[in-house]
Amino acid sequence: MTSTHKTPSRTLFATRIGVLAATVGSAVGLGNIWRFPYEAGAHGGGAFMLCNLVFTLLIGIPILCAEFILGRSSRSNVMGAFRKLAPRQNWRPVGYLCVFSALLIPGFYSVVAGWTMEYFAQSAVGALDLGAVEHYHEYFDTFSSSVWTPLIWIAIFIGLNFVILICGTRGIERASNILMPVLFVILIIFAVNSMCMDGASEGLYFLFHPDWSAIDSSTVLSALGQSFFSLSLGLGCMTTYASYFSDSTRIGRSAVTTACLDLIVAIFAGVIIFPAVFTYGGSVEAGPKLVFEILPGIFHHLPFGAVWSALFFFLLILASLTSTISMHEIVITFLTEEKGMSRRNATILECSAAFVLAVIASLSFGPLAEMKIFSLSFFSLLDFITSNVMLPIGGLCIAIFAGYVIDRNIIRTQMTNNGRLHPTLLPLTIFSLRYLCPLAILLIFLSSLSII
Ligand code: PHE
Repeated sequence: MTSTHKTPSRTLFATRIGVLAATVGSAVGLGNIWRFPYEAGAHGGGAFMLCNLVFTLLIGIPILCAEFILGRSSRSNVMGAFRKLAPRQNWRPVGYLCVFSALLIPGFYSVVAGWTMEYFAQSAVGALDLGAVEHYHEYFDTFSSSVWTPLIWIAIFIGLNFVILICGTRGIERASNILMPVLFVILIIFAVNSMCMDGASEGLYFLFHPDWSAIDSSTVLSALGQSFFSLSLGLGCMTTYASYFSDSTRIGRSAVTTACLDLIVAIFAGVIIFPAVFTYGGSVEAGPKLVFEILPGIFHHLPFGAVWSALFFFLLILASLTSTISMHEIVITFLTEEKGMSRRNATILECSAAFVLAVIASLSFGPLAEMKIFSLSFFSLLDFITSNVMLPIGGLCIAIFAGYVIDRNIIRTQMTNNGRLHPTLLPLTIFSLRYLCPLAILLIFLSSLSII
């Protein structure tokens, strides 16, 4: 934690930048740069984008506020927050759901982070410059379906997480405070570059023009899942971080800033990828491999492509690290604070679990490709179940908890910092938590199950 300011019980974020760095660090990651473009590509581009935007603003921001309120008012991990704020009710199952989601997500996330590391290493030695797009398809397929190389990268990535989690997160936070703005600048440069491509207008049209006929229950569910995943919502991640907020942190403003930055990064990723798909060839519906097939093609056409490529993948590894650290933190704080385990043992247990899941998920691109569960590979199953089912259910419960269970005064005090701030977002947040979020999430689930 970025921390210099001590209170008797907990070390708090000292500055506004510290708060933002942690929440944005968790939110911005592969979800924006890898997942958003592939989901948007698979679900009609503009239609997905519009739904994602609406969900982020009307559901994401209020639930982000709710998680911040839960965390700061209870000053504890997600399980403890439910217990402290509603001592007479049993919210443990929801706490377990959150911790379980946090356990599963690194299972597929680490696989993609491993791919990123391979692409970084290959770019750094100048071996990723393969020319035409077909070569990148081939390269990705051969690499991802092989057994050992992806596993070695997964081991290195989870090993890095382990070292950071044991040695403290100071170093990675300092590094990301400096380097994330660099990632931002690079994204702008690439976006401008993509807008000058021959396929720019087609790509931008695909991304920004909502084709209403593409809005069906699967698009809506995926867009909902994407907003939860991208904002790290529905699993208590932001609750845990908010337990370190100081009393002067402005909850509403932090939520809006985090959500806007997160959205902007995702939109940039789309603006970079889709013009390139339409220029160099490739399918918008390529799925999880989309970004890994298209990005190297973009770098190939840039002067000093290998340098850009290495720099970009390096920054992406860093962005992934700040996200995975926040996922592991949920399980580790649960094991230490609720189960009395030592931090070292909790970290060993959590990283080992992530590794086992990631090995199976990685092999599901190769030797285990035939193993389908609900006609999905293990990798896609983890991705789908967590983002589109578990996180929205977690979010629904958090909205109900904040909207109906905890004392309304707590919400007011937290949102206005004890009456010192104007309650601009308060009525909207309460309305959304009580009515909009529960209703929208329930309706989306029912329609996905073809019940309505
Ligand atoms: N929000 C992260 C991303 O976009 C992923 C994440 C999900 C992080 C859940 C923490 C918890 O990459």
